Amino acid sequence: MNYNKKTVRDVDVSGRKVLLRCDFNVPMAKDGSGVITDDKRIRAALPTIQYLLDQGAAVIACSHMGKPAATFDSYRKKQLEKGRDEASITEEKWKKSLAELRMEPVAARLSELLGRPVILADDVVGPDAAAKAAALKGGEILLLQNTRFEKGETKNDPELAKKMAALAGSDGVYVSDAFGAVHRAHASTAGVAAYLPAVSGFLIQKELDFIGGALANPKRPLVAILGGSKVSSKIGVINNLLEIADTIIIGGGMAYTFSAAQGGTVGDSLLEADWKDYANDMVKKAADKGVKLLLPVDTVIADKFAPDADSKVVKAGRIPDGWQGLDIGPETVALYCAAVAGAGTVIWNGPMGVFEFEKFAAGTKAVAEALSKTSAITIIGGGDSAAAVQQLGYADKMTHISTGGGASLEFMEGKELPGVACLLDQ
Ligand code: 3PG
Repeated sequence: MNYNKKTVRDVDVSGRKVLLRCDFNVPMAKDGSGVITDDKRIRAALPTIQYLLDQGAAVIACSHMGKPAATFDSYRKKQLEKGRDEASITEEKWKKSLAELRMEPVAARLSELLGRPVILADDVVGPDAAAKAAALKGGEILLLQNTRFEKGETKNDPELAKKMAALAGSDGVYVSDAFGAVHRAHASTAGVAAYLPAVSGFLIQKELDFIGGALANPKRPLVAILGGSKVSSKIGVINNLLEIADTIIIGGGMAYTFSAAQGGTVGDSLLEADWKDYANDMVKKAADKGVKLLLPVDTVIADKFAPDADSKVVKAGRIPDGWQGLDIGPETVALYCAAVAGAGTVIWNGPMGVFEFEKFAAGTKAVAEALSKTSAITIIGGGDSAAAVQQLGYADKMTHISTGGGASLEFMEGKELPGVACLLDQ
C-alpha cells in the first residue's frame, strides 16, 4: 500500500467547503447521561480542524458513533440475535437507542475545545444538513449527525456518498482524519472520495508516518511485542510481522496456546486448541526465517479469574489443574525487557496479562516501563495496549500511540486500508 498521500497542505482550501471525516466515536457514560468519558479522539482531530478554519475553509465535519441500527427492521434482527423475545422489541426502544448515539455531546465538547460555536445538523444528508451546509461560511464549522443513521453508510452506498459530497458543493474538498475508521470501506470513509478531491488530515498523516514507517523502513532491530487474549485475533499480525521483524515477543493469554502446542500443561488458562498447529507452524517459520521468537519462560497463575485471586509463579507449561495463567512471570519480564533495551524500533500490540487487576499488571507495567526508558522508536497499537500505557502513566514517554484499535491492527497485518487507499497519492 502506498502511504505517501496528499495532505491538507497540498490543496488550497481557503474559501472552499471541506467535508471532514473524523473518528468521534468516543466512549460515553453507560447511564445514558451523554457524558463523554474520554475525549482523546476529539482532541486528536483539533490540529486539522483548526488548520482548516484558519485557512478560511467552511468545515462540514462528520463521524460515526457506535453501531446504531439504521432501520427498525435491522434493530429487530439484532435484538432477536441477542435472544430478546419479539414482544419486548419496540419502536420506542429503537428510537431510544438512536437518541443515545446522537452527536450533541460531541458538538458541545468540540465547541468547548475549539472555543467557538459548532453548528449541529439534525440529519446527515437530509434537509437540515443541506440547508446548514449551504449557508456555512469560511471559518465556520458544522457537524453532521451520526453517519450510521443512514442505512447506506456501512454498505458504502454510492448514492449516499454522492449526497455527502454534494454538501461540500462543486468546489468541495474531502479531508479524512478518521484514522480509527480507515479499515472500514463505508460511504463517509471511502465512497465519498470518488466525488471530491480527497486528501488526509494531520492525524492520518501522523499515523501513516509512524506505523507505516515502522513497517516499511524500521530502525533495526525491530522488536514486535504481541499480547492479548487470542492467537486467532492476531494471526494476521504475526504472519505479517514474521516477514518484517527481527524479534517477536509473545505474551498475554495467547501465550498459553503456544505453550500447549509445545506440549506444556496450561491448567484452566485461556486456550484455543484449534490454533495449536498454527502456533507450532509460527515457531517453525520464525526459526526458518531467523526471526527470534520469544515465549514466556514463567507465568503468574491464579486460582480464579478475580482481582483477589491467590497467585504464585510457576514455570511456563507447568500450570496445575484448577489454576490459570494471568500474567508473565519475573524471569520472562527480564528476558523481554532485555530484548526491548537493544531495539531500534518497538511495536507493541496487546497487554502481557490481565493488567486491569493490580495483582496481574506487573508484566504489562514492566514492559511499558522498559519502553519508556529505551531510546528506540516506540509505537503503541490502539485499543488495549494504548489503554494500558495510559492507565499506567507512561503515555507521554512513547513515540506514538495510535488512535485506531481495529485500524492499527489491520495496518500491522499489512492489509490495504480503504480509507487510506482512496486518498490522492503524492
Ligand atoms: C473504533 O472505535 O475502533 C472505530 O471508531 C471504528 O469503529 P467500528 O468498529 O464501529 O467501525
